Amino acid sequence: MSEAKRLAAEKALQYVEDGMIVGVGTGSTVAYFIDALGRAPERIKGAVSSSEQSTAQLKKYGIEILDLNHTGELALYVDGADECNPARQLIKGGGGALTREKIIAEASQQFVCIVDPSKQVDVLGRFPLPVEVVPMARSLVAREILALTGGQPVFRMQSETQAFVTDNGNHILDIHHLNITDPMALEAAINQIPGVVCVGLFARRPADVVIVGGEPPQVLR
Ligand code: A5P
Repeated sequence: MSEAKRLAAEKALQYVEDGMIVGVGTGSTVAYFIDALGRAPERIKGAVSSSEQSTAQLKKYGIEILDLNHTGELALYVDGADECNPARQLIKGGGGALTREKIIAEASQQFVCIVDPSKQVDVLGRFPLPVEVVPMARSLVAREILALTGGQPVFRMQSETQAFVTDNGNHILDIHHLNITDPMALEAAINQIPGVVCVGLFARRPADVVIVGGEPPQVLR
């Protein structure tokens, strides 16, 4: 699948214009996109990054990291996904960067999502849905999500003894066994629960373009 990821990432370069500030997501597919940007880093003005991981890789290529508060609206955001349905709605957050990713997606005119074919599904939910929570609300949110969806919340761990901690200092619940037939409604309902920072369901703001890596890459819009 890594070759398909690379092909999708290379295709996304077509959306990058000279002098742009590019919103950059997180994950193994985006890592190929950053490598591609790194071949001509002077082409772009800088990047707004969604994670410490992507920031480190961008800096390695000398690409300036800019603050979204100073850039205002972005023309382009490029990011991967864990699942994508035919309406270009996504599950994201497998890497734990969902909150910043959703912020940048919202702030961008065009969201180009780069995936390998394994990410395409008819109905979202086979991939456990990540929910970032304030640490003290973890159990409360888990109970409410169980009651709301019937899905099984699992507390994400970094190791056997250590909880996974996001770049924002929060925890993640991964909700298993969902069959998301109404992504907009579920996104809104989970967002209502006190203690939820962000749900990794990108339905209200889906991708504008999905590039599925292959020979040739498939562009869905
Ligand atoms: C990061 O938090 C995620 O939203 C990623 O975009 C997603 O997990 C895709 O990752 P890969 O490109 O590594 O499959």
